[in-house]
Amino acid sequence: MYRLTLVLPALLLIALALPAQQQQPSQNSTATAPKGMDYSAIPVAAAKEPNPVKATPESIARAKKWWTLDCAMCHGENGNGKGDTAKDMKLSLVDFTDPASLKDHTDGELFYIIKNGHGDMPPEGDRIKTEEGWDLVNYVRSLAKKKSETEAKPDSGAKPQ
Ligand code: HEC
Repeated sequence: MYRLTLVLPALLLIALALPAQQQQPSQNSTATAPKGMDYSAIPVAAAKEPNPVKATPESIARAKKWWTLDCAMCHGENGNGKGDTAKDMKLSLVDFTDPASLKDHTDGELFYIIKNGHGDMPPEGDRIKTEEGWDLVNYVRSLAKKKSETEAKPDSGAKPQ
């Protein structure tokens, strides 16, 4: 008899989960403005790791080579997320030129994604040296700066999306 009390809740859960899954396909309805990805798989220690490389013009210049070789085909030369490969693969990428796109994420998180990949984002792995990974973080951040400089809005009053 007690077995039934275990099985019943399990069946109930399955019954509840099924229709919930079927309601998902509208996920991509906001294709022009992707919400960004799920960062929950990134280890806390990696997310907290401080960027050891200052975002100097030299660092940005070093990263430019890798950006053009390994990133621009998806993320776009200027970071708007509209590279040819992204179009071919029907990926919807965040727009790095929008300062809001990465503001909630740490350098450690971005480094981790660049190094290890994430979803359809391929890992750089051993192709790049550790320092070059941080250069790329600086580079990605620099794509947004231009816009925020022209808008010159104070950050403090910004609402989280
Ligand atoms: C094959 C296409 C592709 C290439 C090449 C690529 N990316 Fe990505 N990138 C993605 C996708 C797709 C995501 C979103 C991943 C997810 O949702 O799990 C992403 C996510 C990111 C993110 C996190 C942004 C966010 O959405 O929060 C960063 C930072 C990033 N990429 C940087 C880079 C850099 C730097 C390179 C080059 C070294 C690169 N990417 C190469 C497809 C690509």
